[in-house]
Amino acid sequence: MEKEKNKTFMHKFEALEKLYKKYKNCQNCPLAKLGRKNIVFGEGNPNAKLIIVGEGPGEKEDAACKPFIGKSGQLLTKILEQTGLKREDVFITNTVKCRPPKNRNPKTEEIESCTKLLLLKQIDIIEPKVICTLGAIPARVFLGKKVNNLPIKITAIRGQIFKCGNLTIIPTYHPAYILRNNKELQNFTSDIILAKNFSI
Ligand code: URA
Repeated sequence: MEKEKNKTFMHKFEALEKLYKKYKNCQNCPLAKLGRKNIVFGEGNPNAKLIIVGEGPGEKEDAACKPFIGKSGQLLTKILEQTGLKREDVFITNTVKCRPPKNRNPKTEEIESCTKLLLLKQIDIIEPKVICTLGAIPARVFLGKKVNNLPIKITAIRGQIFKCGNLTIIPTYHPAYILRNNKELQNFTSDIILAKNFSI
């Protein structure tokens, strides 16, 4: 049984490596020519049952080639740890893998290109149970522009459970929002706990 598990892990690890190598110099969307230093592919457990998806890398992430290592990443890591999860237990990535200039929001064509070439393939390889989306941009990737006929608003949909094929999608706030609105910290934490519990 343990051997079988390791085989799955290695298989997924290698498939992720192959995907990364294929796109590490990706030129498929305008972000390639807008000052990115690196593709921030994502990191964590190739066999994770929970994938956390943010918007796009910031300056620190771009330089270090790692997702969520700046201020909002430190908050995310702290909350994961409080809920009993290490970063290595989950897989952390973003809707777009290249830093948008001056940290602007990624544009629709950038999101569409990058999710098709990378995010959806990462999900296919990892086969998680749950995707926890941070902020409105990744929520829209999985839920569309509207929920219950209303444009997506994170305050309205956070902490709810959505089904998308075999996946459970749990949207929550972006940690950068929590840094500005500390009163939502408790809700953010309980959304992460919910995502953890659904992924077990
Ligand atoms: N914000 C994001 O959405 N992703 C990161 O990797 C860092 C900050």
